[in-house]
Amino acid sequence: MRASKVVAAIDFGTHGTGFAYTLVTPDNDDPRTRQMVSRYDWPKAPVRGAKTLSAVVVDRDLQPVAWGYEAAELWQLNSPARREDLGLHGYASAFKAALSSRAELRAMARSEGIVDLGSDRTLGRLIPSILRYMRDQTVAALGALDLRLTAEDIRWCLTVPAVWTDAQKLGLRRAAEEAGLGAADTIFVVTEPEAAAVYGILDADKGSARAVSRIGEHRFMVVDCGATTEISAFSGVFDDGKVRLAEIGAGGAGVALGAPDVNRAFRTRLLPRRLSPTLVEHLEREYRDLVSELEGQWEKARPFVAVAPGSGGRPEVVSPVYLDLTRLWPMVPAAVRRRLIEEADGDPRTLMLTAQDTQALLDEVIDPIVRLVRRVCDDLLQEARVGSAPVTAFLVGGFASDDYLHARIQHELGAEARVVRPTDPRLAVLHGAVHLGYNPALVQHVPVPATTPRQQVPARTPRQPESPENRRAVFLSYRRGVSWAMARLVRIDLEQHGFDVFMDVENIDSGRFEPVILTQIESRAHFLLLLEPRSLDRIGNEGDWLHREIAHAIAHGRNVVPLLANGTGMPRAADLPADIATLASFNALTVYHDYFPEAMTKLRGRFLH
Ligand SMILES: Nc1ncnc2c1ncn2[C@@H]1O[C@H](COP(=O)(O)OP(=O)(O)OP(=O)(O)O)[C@@H](O)[C@H]1O
Ligand SMILES: [Mg+2]
Repeated sequence: MRASKVVAAIDFGTHGTGFAYTLVTPDNDDPRTRQMVSRYDWPKAPVRGAKTLSAVVVDRDLQPVAWGYEAAELWQLNSPARREDLGLHGYASAFKAALSSRAELRAMARSEGIVDLGSDRTLGRLIPSILRYMRDQTVAALGALDLRLTAEDIRWCLTVPAVWTDAQKLGLRRAAEEAGLGAADTIFVVTEPEAAAVYGILDADKGSARAVSRIGEHRFMVVDCGATTEISAFSGVFDDGKVRLAEIGAGGAGVALGAPDVNRAFRTRLLPRRLSPTLVEHLEREYRDLVSELEGQWEKARPFVAVAPGSGGRPEVVSPVYLDLTRLWPMVPAAVRRRLIEEADGDPRTLMLTAQDTQALLDEVIDPIVRLVRRVCDDLLQEARVGSAPVTAFLVGGFASDDYLHARIQHELGAEARVVRPTDPRLAVLHGAVHLGYNPALVQHVPVPATTPRQQVPARTPRQPESPENRRAVFLSYRRGVSWAMARLVRIDLEQHGFDVFMDVENIDSGRFEPVILTQIESRAHFLLLLEPRSLDRIGNEGDWLHREIAHAIAHGRNVVPLLANGTGMPRAADLPADIATLASFNALTVYHDYFPEAMTKLRGRFLH
């Protein structure tokens, strides 16, 4: 790979998308003092911030016309007839959600006009288009530096949710290539929680006395509250400029709840109740921009509502929120006006949300988030394999700016964990991704240790009930030099029959080999092991990969299925390393020459369920 002059990251979020970059110079080699640049003054943004809206307006051919907050304004301010005149035919926002494999997340995506987010073709246009826009923004910001860059001089790091499958990650990588972000070897994909974890360790409270003790062992949770909430648990060691991370549990726990849900409840429930249902219906029809503006006021006020300990120390919202109704006032009927003035203690043109109103709106979304935080923290505290280091919760994502959310999480975790919230929690994923793009070796992924001195972990974890989706997920393990041809045949057959197959040659970058492989093994129900003559010749060698894969699958209670081909017999326990000796007792399937299709039918029907 050629040396890059710039490392840039794009955080393509459900709600917002932004970029950050740094120059590759000796001054920036130390991640602790690295300088990062982002754009904060996005056109039409209601508040300054490092991300613009993940939104786009398209023309009749689905070609993007505007992006971000500008797109939202362009669409909302124009009537359908005017849009037609201007050649604006569709609008989409939160369309990252449309890529999710979970229905409740997909439901967050929004589209109007000709945009059909159920269509792969449409998504295939929209996603490269927003990445291209970010690329252009980055290049424009860099342009001022006169570095004489070519496309290959920028190394890109893209972030994805931890729960995305390899196929989804590959999809984003392809979209990035299509967006002109460079060839595959200059695009690097990392997960959002790992980027946030790196930021939490390196930057979270830089220079402050309460900084994360940077040297030593930690257990921590990344609590990423944005448009959705995703919590991931890690154990980590930080020493001498390197971070060693072990992700505990595969993928992170997520809920389809975040700041936009609070705003939606404000608009669809609070406003009709406090103004009047007919008035709001009328306003939504005729004056949508004014309702959006009111929502914007609420969005700005929401993070800063005053919070104080209430009964039992539980944080409570204690101040009202005043919203300015001046622009809407002419449309408000006299009776409603009189009531509003009374409710706002005599203030005209004001909507006063009481502290209780505000808290009820927030609790609806924050209660389930707090319950999820509690669950993951309990798991982390009981996870004997990662020792008893102190637990830190890194609170990141745009919703983490809300003081009430912060206070509730702090209260919930009490003395069990320290909650660290960076000054700008929305930067965590973005800047962490730049760190990882700058030096992928900064983070060394380590598997969770199998044992601690205090507690022995059972050799074989009982097999967990699998989700219907996961029951079709297969990890294909094979000796590269021996079974490459057979591996491809098996994969093609399984994929044709609706299985999701992971095999390592095509799906990952070499630098990310180990963590990806191990996580894949853990997260897939079936571990299909191809055995041919000579497959096990090197199984006893130090660090042999096939050995590690098999051991990991057995330790994680996967459904291990040996497939014996070309006259291979089952190995004897005595010939195998101790941690995989039980392999000898597993049910195997023999593939006879000329009977490959029959063997596959049997494999799918009897072994992979
Ligand atoms: N300065 C800000 N500008 C815009 N939104 C902000 C700002 N500060 C906080 N927010 C809130 O942050 C939310 C978006 O958070 P964030 O950018 O972390 O989400 P995301 O990364 O797009 O979503 P996800 O990670 O779930 O895909 C918004 O809904 C908004 O309420
Ligand atoms: Mg995010």
